[in-house]
Formats: sequence, C-alpha cells, structure tokens
Amino acid sequence: MDIETNKEKPCLTLAIETSCDETSAAIIADGRTVLANIISTQIPVHQKFGGVVPEIASRKHIENVIPVIDECLKQANVKLTEISHIGVTYGPGLVGALLVGVAAAKALAYTLDVPLIGVNHLEGHIFANFLANPDLEPPFIALVVSGGHTSLVHVKGYNEFQLLGQTRDDAAGEAFDKVARVMGLPYPGGPQIDKLALQGNPEAIVFPKALNEKGNFEFSFSGLKSAVLNYINSAKQKGEVINNADVAASFQKAVVDVLTDKALSAVKKIKVNTLVLAGGVAANSALNAKFTANCEKEGIKFYHPNIILCTDNAAMIACRAYYQSRAGLYSDLYLNAVPSLKLTNL
Ligand code: KG4
Ligand code: ZN
Repeated sequence: MDIETNKEKPCLTLAIETSCDETSAAIIADGRTVLANIISTQIPVHQKFGGVVPEIASRKHIENVIPVIDECLKQANVKLTEISHIGVTYGPGLVGALLVGVAAAKALAYTLDVPLIGVNHLEGHIFANFLANPDLEPPFIALVVSGGHTSLVHVKGYNEFQLLGQTRDDAAGEAFDKVARVMGLPYPGGPQIDKLALQGNPEAIVFPKALNEKGNFEFSFSGLKSAVLNYINSAKQKGEVINNADVAASFQKAVVDVLTDKALSAVKKIKVNTLVLAGGVAANSALNAKFTANCEKEGIKFYHPNIILCTDNAAMIACRAYYQSRAGLYSDLYLNAVPSLKLTNL
C-alpha cells in the first residue's frame, strides 16, 4: 500500500524479447495496460541478405538491449526499483538471439532481487490479444501464424493450453517470405505480398490447398510454395509474361482459405464461441477480412491485435509473464534459451 496516496501500487512487469530480429522491452501495469513497448527492428540490417542472419541478429541484440530497456523505462516513467518482476522470452527462436535477452533478464532479476519469469514466445503472441482487447477472457481458439509458427491452440484458461494442430513443414509467414523472395520482393515478404495482392485477381490461378480435409488441424505450406515456384519458372521458360499481382493474390487466397477453414472448424469442434488471431501474419488484410466476414456470419466473436502487437514485441511477453506470476509460474536463475521450445501442452 502506498501510504502517501493511499492507493495500491500497480504490479509492474518489465519484459524483454530478443527471439529473432526485433530487440524489444516493455513495461505493463497490472497485466493489461501498456506503459511502454519499445521495438528496435533489425529488418534493414537483414534485408540485404534476403532473410535473418542469426549471428548478426545476436550481435545487434547485444548492442541494442540495454539502450532499448533504458528507453522503455524513460517512456514509461518508471524506475528500475519499482519493477515487480521480469519476464523474458526463452524460446522458441534463434539460440544466440534468445541468450542475449535471457542473460539481460537474469542480471536484472538478480540485481533487483525480483522474480524472473521465462516466457514461451508463442504463448506471448496469443496474449497480445489480452492487451488489445480488455474484455477478452478464455476459453477461446487461437490461430498463431508467424514467420516460424502455424499453430491452432485451444486456450482453456490463462495457463492452460492444448495444441490442436500445427504445420508439418513451412510456417505460413515463411511461405509468404519465400514466395516473395522468388518474385523479387524484399524481406519480409508478407507485407509486400499483402500490398501487391490488392491489385491482383485471387481467382486467376488455382494453387493447391494441402491437408484440407475436414477435422484435420495440421497444416502444410511447402507444397503450395513449390507450386508457386513451379508456376513462375514454367511461365518464364515458355516466355510468358507473369502477372505478379495475380500470383500474389492467388497464393495469398490459398493460404487464407486453409487458415480460415481450419480455425472455424476448430471453433465448432471445441464448441467455444471466440476466435483470436496472433503472430505477424495476423496483420494480413485478406486474412483479417475473411475471418471478420466468416465469424460474423457464424456468430463467432473474433479478435486480433493491432499491427504493433501482431509482430514481435515485448508487451505481449510481459502480459504472458504477468499471468504466469499470478499462478506462481516463476523461473530460477538457471533459466536457459530453448530454441525449439514447445507450447505448454496440457
Ligand atoms: O510474429 P513475427 O513478427 O515473427 C515471428 O515470430 O516469426 O512474424 C513475422 C512474419 C514474417 O514472415 C512476415 O512476412 C509476416 O509475419 N507478416 C505478414 C504480414 N506482416 C507480417 N504476412 C502476411 N501479411 C502481412 N501483412
Ligand atoms: Zn513471433
């Protein structure tokens, strides 16, 4: 209790996210209010290589992590001594990149003598929805679609998840990035294809939809990616002019159709009434439009985070850390990076 103001002090979560190519630190109050969410992106550094170079990512995180935390404290107007606990992404992700955040978080937790909370990046993506939508409560179905993951999750409670299905090969975002690369578009390809597709005809080319049978919650995008590459290569060999906008729109439609069908059928099977999108691909305009329209038609509540909370950020990690702290799910100072960490599957 704060004697001067006679008010309960807020629970302040500081979180660090360094799993891939964004160095991010955030402070949130009482689990759902974002005070600062600083994201330093490395996209321009990796763009010239056409994708993330792990060793460069680690080095950039080392350079950026302290300035990003400092800026976060400044923007939130919070002193380090006021922090209640520290959350950090410890997997899945690039091992060298993860280690930078984990080391920084451990040093802070030890020095400040506050609890440390290791957070699963995928769970963090789902929890971005709690920040974006104050009325959202479990249970619901979450579709996590990012550069590294495509997973359908039954979120039964704040600390209870069941993985319903995931990709057997490429993630949805990875397919966007690889197809964009072949089309000569810069990294990351998802937003580029999204933009280009607006000028194309999604019905122009019929690309395959793998594992599309009812009741199958697994995904596969590598066949679709190969079909697009074959289409482009064979058109080039025949000297035909390719309409890039049509290719982008048709490819995007194949991804969006599969994601929508499977997510809606999971909602029906599990008998919940709420569906949320999470991860970088959740920013896709066609995906959002189709989810919005179909959920409205079926009377399902649909939530998705705004673009800042869709892509990698530490606020979502802080939100997940807060709910772990409420359940006493802390880590010790032996916390290590786990590059292939799986969702907490109960
Ligand atoms: O969640 P995120 O920032 O990082 C990972 O955890 O992977 O997601 C990045 C992925 C990239 O593959 C990027 O191309 C994709 O999200 N992405 C999009 C869009 N914006 C980002 N994909 C399709 N449409 C978009 N508008
Ligand atoms: Zn991510």
